[in-house]
Amino acid sequence: MKKLRKIAIYGGSFNPIHNAHISIAQAFVKKLKPDKLLLIPTNIPPHKSSENMAQNRERLEMCQLAAKQIKKAEVCSIELEREGKSYTVDTLRQLSEIYPDSEFYLIMGEDMFVSLLDWRQPEELFKLAVICTVARGGGDVTLLYEMDEKYKAMGAETIVLDMKKSDISSTQIRAAVYNDKSISKYVCEDVERYIYAHYLYMNKEQINYPWLHKVLKARMGEKRYQHSCNVSDEAVRLAGLYGADKDKAKLAGLLHDITKETPHEDQLDIMKRYSVPLDDLVLSSPKLWHAMSGAAFVKNVIGVADEDICNAIRYHTSGRAGMSLLEKCIFIADFTSAERNYSGVEKMRELADKSLESAMIYGLSFSIAELAEKNTAIDPNAVACYNEVVLNNRRGDVARI
Ligand SMILES: [Fe+2]
Ligand SMILES: [Fe+2]
Repeated sequence: MKKLRKIAIYGGSFNPIHNAHISIAQAFVKKLKPDKLLLIPTNIPPHKSSENMAQNRERLEMCQLAAKQIKKAEVCSIELEREGKSYTVDTLRQLSEIYPDSEFYLIMGEDMFVSLLDWRQPEELFKLAVICTVARGGGDVTLLYEMDEKYKAMGAETIVLDMKKSDISSTQIRAAVYNDKSISKYVCEDVERYIYAHYLYMNKEQINYPWLHKVLKARMGEKRYQHSCNVSDEAVRLAGLYGADKDKAKLAGLLHDITKETPHEDQLDIMKRYSVPLDDLVLSSPKLWHAMSGAAFVKNVIGVADEDICNAIRYHTSGRAGMSLLEKCIFIADFTSAERNYSGVEKMRELADKSLESAMIYGLSFSIAELAEKNTAIDPNAVACYNEVVLNNRRGDVARI
């Protein structure tokens, strides 16, 4: 009986998915003309994935981006959902139930192909799918053809495609990122951007400014990026003026809006993943989120351990009672960065040069009044901050404004 559908399956850890994966998939789509090609990232349990590995969700999302380059491709998450060790034979059985009356073509790299007899129930695999691989010129393909003969003798149906040799491997790509080397030749543009935006495979032991700029550019538009650079410069200037740590000011200023253009649902996801407390006020005010999700991202993803820097980002929109000098510098720099041109900015700049606290009163009066006018909830941290600086001011601790 003729099968209804032809389904090609391409599984792997895809950590990350790269151009050689894409060209193998494209070659088989051309050869087999399947109804669909399923890209299936293998489950890597969290405890097995080292710090320099991408998580399941990240590998899945990179596959979704790469799938756009492959006709008929879809990403299938059954192995991630099944959890535990991913056995291809289980996946094929499951897929046979989801897509009955289908003919399956299992695509794999040469290294996987030659080791097939070590997989779980290889004979069963041979019954469930046509085994497909590539023979790349330049390498030694003797073993590959030997194994091919062996599998056929065991009843397998196989397809071996001749393809140009490729030197790309996921391991090399991860190493390249870790060592600050370009990867644009190895992965598609969307995956490259994703790797930067999510700070994957980076060396988290040291702060690397050129890479941080790549992260920012991948996460925000040109205007916001310029603003971030300007806040960083202004924060360094204020730190110099008032005796705060300039290096910390530079970093906190640069990263303060890192999630500002991140979609709200992704920000919520970041906050939940890193256990940011979410009360009703926070949940009902997405405008407050980027300070919180940004601080969580900087601490957990970028790996900035310095609490003062993380707090400066966390409270850069609201302020809070008992702010550190660095927190104040970032808070004010966000108002007085070079590109700001709102009415009152000159006054704000003048105050910032005389006293951070008087500039804070001026800035907070603005923002609190604006929120109240729009009947928007006001972050209690902003009120606490305002009250503290106003009371200090009354006691004469703050230069008169
Ligand atoms: Fe901000
Ligand atoms: Fe900002």
